[in-house]
Amino acid sequence: MHYDSDMVVRSDAGRGQDFGKVVESRIGRRGLIKGGIVAAFSASSLGKALASVTQDSVAKVDGLAFEGIAPSSGIEIALAKGYSHHIVIGWGDSLDVVSRSNDPEKLTAKDQRRAFGYNNDYVGFLPLPLGSENSEHGLLAVNFEYANPELMYDIEGDLKKLTKSQADVCMEAVGFGVVEVKLTDGKWQPVLASKFNSRHTANSKMEFSGPARGDTRMMTSHSKDGSTGIGTLANCSAGKTPWGTVLSGEENFQDMFGHANYTEEKDNRSAARYGVGSDDSEYGWERHYDRFDVRKERNEAYHFGWVVEFDPYDPNWIPKKRTALGRFRHEAATTHVAKSGQVVMYSGDDARFEYVYKFVSRDRYDADDRKANMNLMDEGILYVAKFNDDGSGEWLPLVYGQGPLTKENGFDSQADVVIDVRIAADLLGATKMDRPEDIEVNPVNQKVYVVCTNNTDRGKDGKEGSNTMNPRNENRHGHVIELVEGEANDHTATSFAWELFLVCGDPEDESTYYAGYPKEKVSPISSPDNICFDRFGNLWISTDGQEKTLKTRDGFFAVPTEGPERGSLRQFMASVPGSEVCGPEFTPDGKTAFLAIQHPLEGKLYGDWAESWPETGKIARPGIIAIRADNGMAIGSAEAQTVSRRDLVDQLFGK
Ligand code: FEO
Ligand code: CA
Ligand code: CA
Repeated sequence: MHYDSDMVVRSDAGRGQDFGKVVESRIGRRGLIKGGIVAAFSASSLGKALASVTQDSVAKVDGLAFEGIAPSSGIEIALAKGYSHHIVIGWGDSLDVVSRSNDPEKLTAKDQRRAFGYNNDYVGFLPLPLGSENSEHGLLAVNFEYANPELMYDIEGDLKKLTKSQADVCMEAVGFGVVEVKLTDGKWQPVLASKFNSRHTANSKMEFSGPARGDTRMMTSHSKDGSTGIGTLANCSAGKTPWGTVLSGEENFQDMFGHANYTEEKDNRSAARYGVGSDDSEYGWERHYDRFDVRKERNEAYHFGWVVEFDPYDPNWIPKKRTALGRFRHEAATTHVAKSGQVVMYSGDDARFEYVYKFVSRDRYDADDRKANMNLMDEGILYVAKFNDDGSGEWLPLVYGQGPLTKENGFDSQADVVIDVRIAADLLGATKMDRPEDIEVNPVNQKVYVVCTNNTDRGKDGKEGSNTMNPRNENRHGHVIELVEGEANDHTATSFAWELFLVCGDPEDESTYYAGYPKEKVSPISSPDNICFDRFGNLWISTDGQEKTLKTRDGFFAVPTEGPERGSLRQFMASVPGSEVCGPEFTPDGKTAFLAIQHPLEGKLYGDWAESWPETGKIARPGIIAIRADNGMAIGSAEAQTVSRRDLVDQLFGK
């Protein structure tokens, strides 16, 4: 064990405090379900009986009531008992017309520009109409992180063989997109030719806002005043805003740029810190387009690594790169309205030994003024986290002129601070973490969950060793940290308290920790990546990397965050070979979970389709699945495992 006894005592004490209350509510819940059935037998009105089962018991359920599945090495999607999935949409499906013979291999760049992209990562469900809680009709906003040309084309894995027209398809297959979807007879289907259906790709017009807009380092041959840009790249995860837009994180943009070798020290320092290399790029697009060759378009790489805001409800609104939120490898960008009404954005820089950031808006959210809300991410203070050993922490302001962020250290403006925010954070002494991925606020307990996916370099070759907040050397499995902001969850605060919530891995490995829950009762989990919460505040986690570490498929897991079941992690779903699981997203009623199956068959080459998905023997196609309980009840709930309304009617009154 790497935990000091204090820490374990602290979390046990937390469990103790809540124990009585939660046991009471659990007994209450069981009683209610039973009581509901009893009530139904004696009720004179069918409606009253059903209400007692469905509404009362759902409202009081706080636990999870599905049986965890065993880790999988199979080639099909596996789900907890009582659940089924279907594919909503996949790579190459046209957003306009019924798919052309489902043959993504024949896609032209022009087709791809109006079709579902490759490597779906983020999935957001936005109800229709805007502002409603409709759980049966809405928009899916989806990020397309990157393309896998070695699986899309017969190039024997050699990206140098990729033709210009194939590269063009890849460039149209990334970015993000929106598709209208409807639930009909228990199945989600795309609404083709909807006015909302849209794609933004590596070639779409973008605008900059915030401190870096118009800075000399943002000026290029296609953007003389540094106010606009071409395309969005490496869009990993994202977050919905309270005003119904999406903030998308541009993550590993450096892989698309080559030949960085500047004359200015300031540029070279930046390229080195951001990993923009001096060799050919990984994707080789610079062979076809000058803007990916830093020798030819020196400032282009400064146009990426931002948070991009787009409006799923308005396909014509030009997406804005919000430079006040800093430039780094954004995993995502999630928002929360603080008690003051200010909007707080959290974002992790997903690379080894990088930082956790938050932004606090200057202005307040106004539920009645969507237009004004759309400027909230431009004015405010960006902070970086410093975790202290004693369980406290501070948010350090990244403000030009404050502390070391001055001319002496190469910063001439706030534009410099946001463009080179990693360097600014280094100077402030922020805490180097194990690849921070998703960060989200639990809507029930208001705590902030920070996912660190893994860091196999921790403690290696003279690199920084383990500490209390990154407790393992050669951290292969990752961990999840829980923060309480300021006094009583004030998310604008500049101080916080933190605790380890999960230290992942095989529970038989003594370095793992599940919030103090008995380890013989939990599922193995590794490389947590994206998270979401259900209506009861249970944390749901999708993973990226288990095939390498645990030798099992990636999956989707759930774990209660409060009460006696806190830490009782179990696996809900297992994915297919070569894939990671992204998304995850619940509809407002909790009855559908959308998951993105990203890069199925990664690691193999074109033609090796024996373990392909969604169909063996055919080209692999990343896609979105929807999971629903067979009885239509909320995912994870006791009702989904017990009786449905229909079953109950049948039981009580006969078919
Ligand atoms: Fe694209 Fe941090 O995963
Ligand atoms: Ca991710
Ligand atoms: Ca990841």
